[in-house]
Amino acid sequence: MAVFSLFDAEEKALEQARALRRSLADAPEAVRDGLDTLIGAYDSSVREQRRLVKVSDRLQGQLASLNQELGKRKAEAEEALANLRAAQDSLIQSEKLASLGALVGGVAHEINTPVGVALSCASHLADATDAMRKLFEADDIGIDDFERYMATARDTSALIVGNCERAAALIRSFKQVAVDRTSSERRSFELGSYIRETLASLGPHIRQAGHRVTVDCPDGIVMDSYPGALSQVLSNFVMNSLVHGFDPGTGGAIVITVDRPTSGQVRMIYSDNGKGIAPGNRSRIFDPFFTTRRGAGGSGLGLHIVYNLVTGPLEGGVAVDSPPGGGASFTVTLPQAVSQ
Ligand SMILES: Nc1ncnc2c1ncn2[C@@H]1O[C@H](COP(=O)(O)OP(=O)(O)OP(=O)(O)O)[C@@H](O)[C@H]1O
Ligand SMILES: [Mg+2]
Repeated sequence: MAVFSLFDAEEKALEQARALRRSLADAPEAVRDGLDTLIGAYDSSVREQRRLVKVSDRLQGQLASLNQELGKRKAEAEEALANLRAAQDSLIQSEKLASLGALVGGVAHEINTPVGVALSCASHLADATDAMRKLFEADDIGIDDFERYMATARDTSALIVGNCERAAALIRSFKQVAVDRTSSERRSFELGSYIRETLASLGPHIRQAGHRVTVDCPDGIVMDSYPGALSQVLSNFVMNSLVHGFDPGTGGAIVITVDRPTSGQVRMIYSDNGKGIAPGNRSRIFDPFFTTRRGAGGSGLGLHIVYNLVTGPLEGGVAVDSPPGGGASFTVTLPQAVSQ
């Protein structure tokens, strides 16, 4: 409708020009011809304008439907992305559950042995005690019986205590693995002092063995993170150096170097000059239950705990390196402030 009102004035002018031309029937031919040409030109100009307006309307219509189509596609793409995110989340969740399941299975398997040994020792002791009671009631205990019983009681109770301690240690490690963010406290702390404090608490272990520890950390790096988790990470590194790296009686060296590769990021390199980690084992040391000391006190959970703490609450990364001069080295990168 707008088009017609747009051209109303033009149509009226054209009509008036045509009426003028009719009233000038007696005018000289040159005037009439000139007027005809003018009217013709004006008429075709108006027609051309109308055509252009129609074309523009059509284009506008096409543009509007294109826009609508685009909006629909955008909504579809957004929905697909949301579905993808949900699928990814559930994958991560099931991955976590699978690894937790494997861990629980592993812990149950590991605990089975010490508990089984303790149980059979306890029932052996009970049988021996029962036999002693019968001899006692019959007033028939000889000195040999008594000595044998004492030896059995001593051996079995030592085995029971040892195996129960082992089971308790496994349960403690397991509790650490199931890192509970809510129970560990987040707060501000100065990194250098905190590292030194943690090492001081491990001091007796280190000093006894005569090892040297050097901390090279710039002053004034204030972290907003989980100090408890960080100290667990450090303790595991140190205990590993003492247990796996250094031979008893040989003084080893531990060096902890901290720097800031980029602002907001902290890098801690922990290294010892001990025996090092065989290249074939390096890809497996963070796996749960990987240990080269099975049966000699190792459960293989230490570095798995480290990995979970660093990539979990501490929101960083950890890698094992092979320093050219031998020994073992771990690089931990952390954000100075965690996001949650
Ligand atoms: N500083 C190190 N020097 C040499 N080997 C190491 C060092 N740290 C770790 N390892 C190797 O990595 C393996 C895995 O370490 P991890 O701490 O996970 O288990 P573990 O020390 O054997 O047992 P746990 O820590 O549960 O008592 C160790 O068994 C050892 O072979
Ligand atoms: Mg360990």
